[in-house]
Amino acid sequence: MGKDRLPGGPSIFLLLLFLLPGDTSPTTEPQYMVLVPFLIHTNGPEKVCIQLTHLNESVTLSATLEYAGENRSLIADVVSEKDVFKCVPFTVPKSSSSSAAFLTVLVKGPTLEFRSRKSVLVKNSESLVFVQTDKPVYKPGQTVLFRIVSLDEDFRPLNEKFALVFIKDPQRNRVYQWREVELNGGLTQLSFPLTSEPIQGTYNVVVQKESGTNLEHSFSVEEYGKEGSHSCWGGGVGSRSNRLGF
Ligand SMILES: *[C@@H]1O[C@H](CO)[C@@H](O)[C@H](O)[C@H]1NC(C)=O
Ligand SMILES: *[C@@H]1O[C@H](CO)[C@@H](O)[C@H](O)[C@H]1NC(C)=O
Repeated sequence: MGKDRLPGGPSIFLLLLFLLPGDTSPTTEPQYMVLVPFLIHTNGPEKVCIQLTHLNESVTLSATLEYAGENRSLIADVVSEKDVFKCVPFTVPKSSSSSAAFLTVLVKGPTLEFRSRKSVLVKNSESLVFVQTDKPVYKPGQTVLFRIVSLDEDFRPLNEKFALVFIKDPQRNRVYQWREVELNGGLTQLSFPLTSEPIQGTYNVVVQKESGTNLEHSFSVEEYGKEGSHSCWGGGVGSRSNRLGF
């Protein structure tokens, strides 16, 4: 049962090859094709695909990614089939120093050798991070509730992780801090209580991104300040899942 059935993937693939227009001479020469994206995004899943056909000997197949002064091996395989189609996943980490990478594919056997080196543009993906407090002005003793939201370049929620989030008082003292803050569904809510006699003035929520950049959002603490009694977040999402991690 099923003995005569050709395996789906490869047979379809070979069929496509035979149907290629202009390919009239029934070539049996070893052939290679390397498919790499022209533009890749940092931290995103990317892949390089390699097609080998009519191999007449077993070869080693290797692919190397050259990026930010470093060579990383993506694959190093011995291929003994005649026809192979392989896709190798890879990711490129963020780097401030380079915007280009090179992908080198090397196919080598006792008599065959094929090398392809292609340049790829690398685009740093920078997330958009917002910090919102539930009020612009707080009174002593109140609880400051704030939210950190992160979106990727396509405005999708991003579960970004921040090494450090802290609160700076008007005298630049660090009064609260949270380490390893990880967003869930692209957001997190944190809170802390103001003391009954806090230093009055402008405070800052500081979020440290992994790229090293800091993001700040200010709010005020005033004894007699006009106070927004309602949350400026609007309704809906406000479950008070405070994760206090100091
Ligand atoms: C494989 O094919 C190549 C190209 O046609 C040829 O140069 C080589 O000698 C062949 N190798 C073997 C082992 O037949
Ligand atoms: C990476 O590989 C390329 C090509 O093989 C070579 O020219 C370069 O020196 C290598 N770089 C490092 C850092 O090993």
